[in-house]
Amino acid sequence: SKTTVEWREKKYKDEISNLTQKNGWSPSQPLCLYKDFWFYPFFLQGALYARDHFQAQPNDVFICSSMKTGCTWIKSLCFSIATRSQFDDSTSPLRTTVPHDCIPFLEFGEYFTAQGPKIPLFASHLPYTCLPESVIDLGCKIIYLCRDPKDTYVSMWHFFRKVVATTTPGDEDSFVSNEEGFELFCKGLSSYGPYWDHVLGYWKASLERPDKILFFKYEDLKKETEACVRKLAEFLECPFSIEEEREGTVQKIIKFCSFESLSNLEVNKTGKQVKGRGRFVENNKYFRKGKVGDWKNYLSAEMDELENDRVFVNQPWNFNKA
Ligand code: A3P
Repeated sequence: SKTTVEWREKKYKDEISNLTQKNGWSPSQPLCLYKDFWFYPFFLQGALYARDHFQAQPNDVFICSSMKTGCTWIKSLCFSIATRSQFDDSTSPLRTTVPHDCIPFLEFGEYFTAQGPKIPLFASHLPYTCLPESVIDLGCKIIYLCRDPKDTYVSMWHFFRKVVATTTPGDEDSFVSNEEGFELFCKGLSSYGPYWDHVLGYWKASLERPDKILFFKYEDLKKETEACVRKLAEFLECPFSIEEEREGTVQKIIKFCSFESLSNLEVNKTGKQVKGRGRFVENNKYFRKGKVGDWKNYLSAEMDELENDRVFVNQPWNFNKA
């Protein structure tokens, strides 16, 4: 109800106002430091609300990622996999509903208004250490998606620039330049940053609990989509049957969830998603290019070097080895 929303905003605004703040990527949006990660106040408000009120159930599965690593895609895949006994690609709610409304973010309070069938799937951008306690205590399964930091940065810079242009028009001209934005990102000053710590948190957790945390890279999802989709189905405890394999169900899901297919649906071309009071994100902002290596069009060799110093060397998922 309205009262709850207002109460929630006041209480958490007070808590947030006591946190360390730094200039973000645009003048009206400072970043706040909470548990060693940087948050936009609007997102943090929801995270604090989830901390206090979100109650996970043992069978809930959480699709976690930092921003702009491809969660729109993996959500669509998981949703299609989990609901395939009810829908096929001609009847899927994804045809008329943006993927983010099919699998709500736990920290945006979206689960109150989620549309479509009730399935035990949630999404989150929260760092591992900021997830509501019940998620960890109950040993809920987690699917984590990460992406080459350079592509993630480029995607984020474009996304926020476009969102700022439509939500706070006056801010458009003072939005950070690509060079400044990249420097801030490398220093960890980005939404849900430091990006590296976000990935590392989940990576370490996945080593401790490999049966509960499944780790994906956007690049692998691109290269070995079929293998990844089968893995997702097994993890969601609904593996593809021999019959389904014969009918090409895996390939049909992949085709339906492809960038070309989803981005051309009317809902994703012209629809809008309501985020809290008075804030809209146009659904087409979630679809830009959907390519691996687009950073080469925006970052110089020197910027690449700068990022290399910080990259996850000696990790099996070191993006520079790919
Ligand atoms: P680009 O900006 O590089 O194009 P998120 O979904 O976490 O917000 O990440 C957004 C990124 O995923 C964007 O990357 C977007 O284009 C890409 N994306 C969205 N849907 C996709 C799909 N179905 N397949 C591949 N990439 C997709």
